[in-house]
Amino acid sequence: MLKPNKLANNNFLSSLDLSTDEALHVLELAKNFKNKKINIDLKNKVLGLIFDKSSTRTRVSFQVAMSRLGGTTIDLNPTTSQIGRGELIKDTARVLSSYCDVIAVRTFDHLDLEEYAKWSSKPVINALTDLEHPCQALADFLTIHEEFNHFKEVVLTFIGDGNNVANSLILCGALLGVEVRIACPKGYEPNSLIIKKAYEIYKNKDLLKITNDPITAVKGANVLYTDVWSSMGEENQKEEKDKDFLGFTIDNNLVGNANKDAIILHCLPAYRAKEITDEVIESKRSRIFEQAENRLHAQQALLSCLLS
Ligand code: CP
Ligand code: NVA
Repeated sequence: MLKPNKLANNNFLSSLDLSTDEALHVLELAKNFKNKKINIDLKNKVLGLIFDKSSTRTRVSFQVAMSRLGGTTIDLNPTTSQIGRGELIKDTARVLSSYCDVIAVRTFDHLDLEEYAKWSSKPVINALTDLEHPCQALADFLTIHEEFNHFKEVVLTFIGDGNNVANSLILCGALLGVEVRIACPKGYEPNSLIIKKAYEIYKNKDLLKITNDPITAVKGANVLYTDVWSSMGEENQKEEKDKDFLGFTIDNNLVGNANKDAIILHCLPAYRAKEITDEVIESKRSRIFEQAENRLHAQQALLSCLLS
């Protein structure tokens, strides 16, 4: 039976907290959890969830993951805790980590997540920040691997905003040697530091491309991926972004320009008729709901490594 390996880093704040071998190990473990080939007992272990933003998938998949592993979770948000009254992160982190065995944080500023990690005596997991969504990327690459059985020569094209999800796809893609193309309107390119880090990891620099042309970007692609145009916290930019992103919808026309075997991914929640059409979400090529299920398996794998 495959066993969870201890990870070199205590935290999972970024995709880059894993090495290539560790990322492959977590994905392999996730497959084993999914196929019920592995049984890990995390009895009495407690995961603390701190969510400053809304969540359906991340919250519930972490809760169910802990429950399947025999542990439990505590769910905190600003209104039910002292966080909303301005208690300092350094105090919250020290206290919570003296009760819990691992903490997952969803917040706005990535620096706040790093502050939690600095003061926590237990591992901290990024459950999404404005900069990265690395747990999502694990489930995404698990879904891709399930489809193609390998990563070699897989081309992943992300159409939309150069946001947290795009950033994590870039970093995880770099770790796994997958070709990643990002097609976004001018001015919405992914974070330049993320791009720089990715280029430092890719052995072949041609494997990362940032473009403003969606049609060229999907040519030869095996995976088409999109996410909302306005992320949580950007509600006041919605009108402007809706205009700027015209022509960046994944519809049947765009899908027709990709490879015949291309699959469609979306991290969800989705705005139908904006970044993706209802038809494409519901199409035979969509693996969006398998991808959402894979959040659970990937996080079971991650938790069992962080707590091993
Ligand atoms: N994909 C994702 O993180 O979904 P939630 O916002 O519902 O957690
Ligand atoms: N980019 C989106 C992802 C939601 C899972 C957001 O940050 O709102």
